[in-house]
Amino acid sequence: MAKLERANFGSRLGVILATAGSAVGLGNVWRFPYMAGENGGAVFIIIYAVCVLFLGIPCMISEFIVGRHGRANTARAFSKMSGGTAWSFIGYMGVLTGFLITGYYAVVAGWCIQYIWASLIGLMQGSPEYFRTYFEELSTDPVRPVMWTIVILGLTYLIIEHGVRNGIERASKLMMPTLFLLLLVIVVASCMLPNAGKGVKFLFYPDFTKINGNVFLAALGQSFYSLSIAMGCLCTYASYFSKQTNLTNSAVQIGVLDSLVAILAGLMIFPAAFSVGINPDSGPSLIFITLPNVFAQAFEGLPLLGYVISLLFFVLLSLAALTSLMSLHEVSTAFFHEEFFMTRKKAALLVTVMAACIGSLCSLSLGATDVMTLFGKSLFDWFDFITGQIFLPIVGFMTCVFIGWAVPHKLVHDEFTNWGTLNGRFFHLYIFLVKYVCPLAILFIFLHQLGLLK
Ligand code: PHE
Repeated sequence: MAKLERANFGSRLGVILATAGSAVGLGNVWRFPYMAGENGGAVFIIIYAVCVLFLGIPCMISEFIVGRHGRANTARAFSKMSGGTAWSFIGYMGVLTGFLITGYYAVVAGWCIQYIWASLIGLMQGSPEYFRTYFEELSTDPVRPVMWTIVILGLTYLIIEHGVRNGIERASKLMMPTLFLLLLVIVVASCMLPNAGKGVKFLFYPDFTKINGNVFLAALGQSFYSLSIAMGCLCTYASYFSKQTNLTNSAVQIGVLDSLVAILAGLMIFPAAFSVGINPDSGPSLIFITLPNVFAQAFEGLPLLGYVISLLFFVLLSLAALTSLMSLHEVSTAFFHEEFFMTRKKAALLVTVMAACIGSLCSLSLGATDVMTLFGKSLFDWFDFITGQIFLPIVGFMTCVFIGWAVPHKLVHDEFTNWGTLNGRFFHLYIFLVKYVCPLAILFIFLHQLGLLK
């Protein structure tokens, strides 16, 4: 068996930007700001930060440890670390989760591209009703969304096939700074609108009366999704880290960047929404129906600025989606490349074609045909439910139990401290968290999401 030459990231910045690229995605823009505003503002943000720090970051470090130790795709990395025992199934499940998400995430990413196009040709103006109809017609159209799903997957393919350094790292180094810049431009424009202060207040006003157990679980679930935990992405990227990469510092930096983008997204959305008196909602309707309408109205007096802001917003959204999609695609590409001894190109092509099939079916299930509806849920919603609410908690839980209880602590300590060259001050805290706190917390979210815990 020929030994495969292992790719790696070329710089520390590359590691941070690529992994932050995976974390920063649609979840930051459409879910976080809304959840913060609805769940007590500043208090939610503090709870969220605590979840990221004490639960998200330890889980992230655990995946990094498995990935870097294995220096292989997620399935093989878990199998190596567990000595080929039954624990290997976590890795296979991680790959499967990553793969299943790739298809439906691409559908939403495809909508973003369609909206760039629509902004470009000046279609992003009209009445609130117009925006609603526009989105409904688009998402249930049998042709356009399928075409855009294929386009964005094709774009992802072009990046992935260039490899880790020339593809993923290079693209991230270009796209992430652009994304930050666009974010800042839109935040400034949004905060300068009349009455913008109300939106800032909605986001940051600490309302202690809104705090209850559900808020904690919501913050926890959001932090896991937002950090791309349990989808194989972090493990796969960590397999390209070098022996010098400081896993703890990297996880902290990525957690901070991701949270910062989420808060800035709130500062981009709410001041504009409140300045025109529109109540923001959550989910796809926020970004695809409410926001275009908000931008159109907020910048009514300055149509050129409105045009530019709407265009920039959808470029930003597409970049965020694309960097996350790259990491999802890479999970399966690395798997096929290494497990089935295909060239990277072939593996990437295979994943692209399979994801395009799943994505197209998900897209069609939203209305073009009702053949793909099961128990009242479309195929799209099923993928979302199974991956996000079932597989994610299971893989996250098992990863913590595996690292906390099954892997010899000496091995974990070696990776944590880069073989004794780094200070291991936080090692005991880390082990305590992954052994007890993280699994319990994940169990709670799981039961809560299934409605078994109120
Ligand atoms: N973290 C991404 C977001 O916030 C979602 C994602 C999950 C991306 C898993 C890749 C893998 O949107």
